[in-house]
Amino acid sequence: MNQEDLFKKIVAHCKEYGFIFPSSEIYDGLSAVYDYGQNGVQLKNNIKEYWWKAMTQLNEEVVGIDSAIFMHPTVWKASGHVDEFNDPLIDNKDSKKRYRADVLIEEHIEKIREKIAKEVEKAKKRFGDSFNEEMFVSTNPRVLEYKEKIDKITQRFTKALETNDLEDLRNIIIEEGIICPISGSKNWTEVRQFNLMFDTKLGSVAEGANTIYLRPETAQGIFVNYLNVQKTGRMKIPFGIAQIGKAFRNEIVARQFIFRMREFEQMEMQYFVRPGEELQWFEYWKEKRLKWHLALGFPETKYRWHKHEKLAHYANAAYDIEFEFPFGFKELEGIHSRTDFDLSQHEKFSGKKIRYFDNETEESYVPYVVETSIGLDRTFLAVLSASYKEENLGEESRVVLSIPPALAPIKAAVLPLVKKDGLPELAREIMDILKYEMNCMYEEKDSIGKRYRRQDAIGTPYCITVDHQSLEDSTVTLRYRDTMQQERISIDKLFDIVKSKTDMNTLLKKL
Ligand code: GAP
Repeated sequence: MNQEDLFKKIVAHCKEYGFIFPSSEIYDGLSAVYDYGQNGVQLKNNIKEYWWKAMTQLNEEVVGIDSAIFMHPTVWKASGHVDEFNDPLIDNKDSKKRYRADVLIEEHIEKIREKIAKEVEKAKKRFGDSFNEEMFVSTNPRVLEYKEKIDKITQRFTKALETNDLEDLRNIIIEEGIICPISGSKNWTEVRQFNLMFDTKLGSVAEGANTIYLRPETAQGIFVNYLNVQKTGRMKIPFGIAQIGKAFRNEIVARQFIFRMREFEQMEMQYFVRPGEELQWFEYWKEKRLKWHLALGFPETKYRWHKHEKLAHYANAAYDIEFEFPFGFKELEGIHSRTDFDLSQHEKFSGKKIRYFDNETEESYVPYVVETSIGLDRTFLAVLSASYKEENLGEESRVVLSIPPALAPIKAAVLPLVKKDGLPELAREIMDILKYEMNCMYEEKDSIGKRYRRQDAIGTPYCITVDHQSLEDSTVTLRYRDTMQQERISIDKLFDIVKSKTDMNTLLKKL
């Protein structure tokens, strides 16, 4: 199956099985806004729990907050978002479609990289065991030509972004012959900057309306609370503040389902450190965050690092963890060394001292910040796309979501074989044993085979079937989602087995 078809299937599956619905669907939806359904919200909450506990429970020096979405408008002036939170946009005159100029160029560079990968694949087949990849990519003339091209475009592109040279961004698109994927033409408009923040009014117009913004990142809620938390929590540097919450961006190119949304959730942590020590903490958090991802058990090859060529206005180092979505490797999480930019700016704009007195060095300073910022919805999409499998079982086939058991929306389904003879009553007793500790589902409708398929499709790791033998010897069959194997288990062992394999601690202990 090609990746485009796979992605379409995942989107359809999300809707069919109650994971994600288009927002306001009965009114034909709202572009790039989505609602999470009955299974989606459980998976999302489990991802949040995994992140929240990994941050605030496993790190004694990291605490959590929940700040408001609305903030004083000066926050966004101070942070630079009013003046600098822009995307360079370009329109194709034939298709009337709008694109981010930087994304068009990045995708073009990615295509050249794919050409290198193809050359490597071809050579691997040709040379067999004697193939030396390192030697090949550093000597093959065609590969060298592609690499040189990538370097040239990257350098020029980075400079154009850094100097806000919109004309040169357009020139790169024209000179590289980048075409609109819809019309296939190169008939481009000028490049313009577009601010991504949504604004609204606070209070009634008569009382003197005040324009405020829906926060485009949760981070600023942490910066403006730095002093509150440091003082009330008597926090000593280095320490972190974590937060999960909604963020809003008026994304113009909003495609790829929940990958790029206008309303989304971020899980961010700001780590406050001594000036001069930020790059060492930056490395520390890079390693820690990758470990968090890898503990989910998806192949390591699905993740890669991407170094930012163009640094945001506040950063002195930045890397992304990219994930291989069905539409290619894309950013999942950003790890940024944000210097003292934000706190210094808030000092300047608020007129309040935002400092830390370091007892060890006997100095007072504005702390530096290392930030880890991950999109919750993107993590959801990463988990779903890595878990989605279509399996051929001879006569039949099944769709199974191999979601890590600790994240699965439903941990166990309790299924009486038939709706009579006392089996539903015993199944209900089993539900009562399990339901206080884990999310379970009771189902008695349809054949047992159909019920297994439905549970596979929503990623339930265990199905517990109650049959007539259960009434005689207090055993049930326990069916494993991934292998479809079944074993007979005594009812009094069920709780321990299911709990131990699906518990959040199984993930947390890997960190
Ligand atoms: N505080 C830093 C910050 O917001 P960012 O790279 O702009 O950095 C962090 O965003 C993460 O938020 C991204 O890595 C991505 O996972 C997620 N994210 C950003 N924009 C998004 C969007 N429009 N839809 C869904 N997730 C988004």
